[in-house]
Order: sequence, then C-alpha cells, then structure tokens
Amino acid sequence: MATKSLTLVMIFFFLLLLLDCSTARKLKALRHQRPCKRLVFYFHDILYNGHNAKNSTSAIVGAPTWGNTTILASNNHFGNVVIFDDPITLDNNLHSPRVGRAQGFYIYDKKETFTSWIAMSFVFNSTEHKGTINFVGADPILTKTRDLSVVGGTGDFQMSRGVVTLSTDAYEGEVYFRLRCDIKLYECW
Ligand SMILES: *[C@@H]1O[C@H](CO)[C@@H](O)[C@H](O)[C@H]1NC(C)=O
Ligand SMILES: *[C@@H]1O[C@H](CO)[C@@H](O)[C@H](O)[C@H]1NC(C)=O
Ligand SMILES: *[C@@H]1O[C@H](CO)[C@@H](O)[C@H](O)[C@H]1NC(C)=O
Repeated sequence: MATKSLTLVMIFFFLLLLLDCSTARKLKALRHQRPCKRLVFYFHDILYNGHNAKNSTSAIVGAPTWGNTTILASNNHFGNVVIFDDPITLDNNLHSPRVGRAQGFYIYDKKETFTSWIAMSFVFNSTEHKGTINFVGADPILTKTRDLSVVGGTGDFQMSRGVVTLSTDAYEGEVYFRLRCDIKLYECW
C-alpha cells in the first residue's frame, strides 16, 4: 500500500516536472521572439567626391585597379572600400541634433549588382546613451529591408545581441544616402 502511494506521488511529481519544463521552454521561446530593447536611428553618409571636403563624412580608401579613390568604380563599385564617421540622428533630418556616430567601413563586394558588406559601431556619448553597439553583415542595398547582426555592445549596451533592419531612406546620386536603422536587441543586460 505504502509503495503504491509512493509511486503515485512520484508520478505526480514527474508530471509536474514535465509541465514545468515545457512552460519554461515556451516562455524562453516567447522571450526570444520579442526584443528586450528596440531603438530606431538614422545615419547619414556624405561621400567625398573631390568637391565636398568640408561636408563629407566618408571617403573611398580602396579601389580596384580600374578605378580611383575619388569616384566610385564601375562594375557596381566592386572593389571599393569606404571608411565612414557618420552622424546619427533620431529622425530623418541631417541637421537634427547628433546623438552619436556610426563609425566603420563598407565594401562593395559584387560585380553584377549593388551589394555591400558592413562592419561598424554606433558610438554614443551623450546623457541619453553611453557606449557602443556593434554590427556586421551583408547589406544587399537594392533590397527594401536588410538584416545585419548585432554582434555585441559596450557601456549601456554591454553584451547586447540582436538584429538591425536597415532600409534606405534617401539616396542622392553617389554622394549622400540615409539609412533607417531599426535595432532589435534580443539579449540585454
Ligand atoms: C555643405 O556645407 C555647406 C556649408 O556649410 C552648406 O552650404 C551645404 O548645404 C552643405 N551640403 C550638404 C550636402 O549638406
Ligand atoms: C577617377 O576616375 C574618374 C572616372 O573613372 C575620372 O573621371 C577621374 O578623373 C579620376 N580621378 C583621378 C584623380 O584619377
Ligand atoms: C564623452 O563625453 C565627455 C564629456 O563631453 C568627455 O569628457 C569624454 O572624453 C567623452 N568620451 C569619449 C569616449 O569620447
């Protein structure tokens, strides 16, 4: 009799444990679907073109043999490397207060179409945010929205991980572009 009730109690606890595991798993999955932090910024890139030394915030530093570092190369700019120190704003106005800098480089890495690869940090040093958010990934420019990885962060964004969705908000010739950056962090500390 005693062993029977003991078995029943054990089965009960076993079921409880199973239930607990599955709810914990579901909760964990849910947590991963919803960002723990969401931030939207715009960054503005003004490429040096030989005439805008004062305003430009980026420069071609590498070019294929058939190009030069003043004008982006033919073949969809394949082989160009651009370094930037671009202002970040909260809205899409270039003249809005700067809340940080987007610093890094992009390379054009396909002859057949416009596509690039970006490695950059958003660097913040204001009362609002201090620290960095770091990004890398492929940026197929002609696609309406592109996802890059948020690989880490420092300061207010220490140990952050997630995804940033980029979209081209403006494009003026080969001198100015503005990207909307919708940052979704799925790991926050
Ligand atoms: C560049 O700077 C000059 C002088 O500050 C300004 O008149 C001009 O509008 C600027 N150009 C751009 C594209 O912001
Ligand atoms: C760079 O290349 C462009 C187009 O290929 C050409 O018009 C320009 O003169 C070149 N500039 C220099 C400094 O070589
Ligand atoms: C951040 O801003 C403060 C105050 O303006 C300055 O003292 C400090 O050097 C800045 N830090 C960095 C990393 O730029």
